[in-house]
Amino acid sequence: MAPKINPKANSGNTSDETLFGLIANDLEKQGYSIRPGALPQDISNALYSYQQDLNSSKYANAGIGRGENFLKTEFVRTDEISWITGESDAGRKWLDWTSKLQHFLNQKLFLGLFSFESHYAHYSPGAYYKRHYDAFRGEANRILSIVTYLNPGWGQADGGELVLYRDDQDRDGIKVVPLYGTVVVFLSEEFPHEVLPSTRDRYSIAGWFRVNTSINNNIDPPR
Ligand code: OGA
Ligand code: MN
Repeated sequence: MAPKINPKANSGNTSDETLFGLIANDLEKQGYSIRPGALPQDISNALYSYQQDLNSSKYANAGIGRGENFLKTEFVRTDEISWITGESDAGRKWLDWTSKLQHFLNQKLFLGLFSFESHYAHYSPGAYYKRHYDAFRGEANRILSIVTYLNPGWGQADGGELVLYRDDQDRDGIKVVPLYGTVVVFLSEEFPHEVLPSTRDRYSIAGWFRVNTSINNNIDPPR
């Protein structure tokens, strides 16, 4: 059983629509949204239990790129990941919710989001993900990034902040504590970001909404 952790967690009082509206406004105004306790509690609890049980054999060292372009680059990131499919109840709950968010944002902001991919990530103490973009201008596939956290009782001393930089020049950034239920959404091409090393095991889920860039028989996205 997952504990009840965050008093600010969204236990259903705030409807999905209300939250999605706030996220849409944030995105329109500033290109990112940071919402503590936003993930509905039944979803965070299901994901939390599932992730705790994820056998380490289900995780793979994270790399950069996919398929033939996959590179294991310890210089850049040292977390391990496991892709989320609809096979588990937890995975399905998450994918249903992100799909509702996708449709809401398409209606509200005309983003044309077409598909979604996401993975669990585990950062062992000391693990990091250096400053990076989730997408590059012109490649136009990953449009919107979403991250949520499954770390009960995370404190400042535990480190592991996500630092979201406003642009290439920004050296300070906005620090996000990876506390249970916090949801972060940002435009993938606009915001470089990094994960600082933590002193505890750090669990997150990262996902990307993509547009359809299929050309001829080259099916993309592949999932
Ligand atoms: C990523 C990422 C952020 C986090 O996986 O691309 O930036 O806080 N994750 O886990
Ligand atoms: Mn990223």
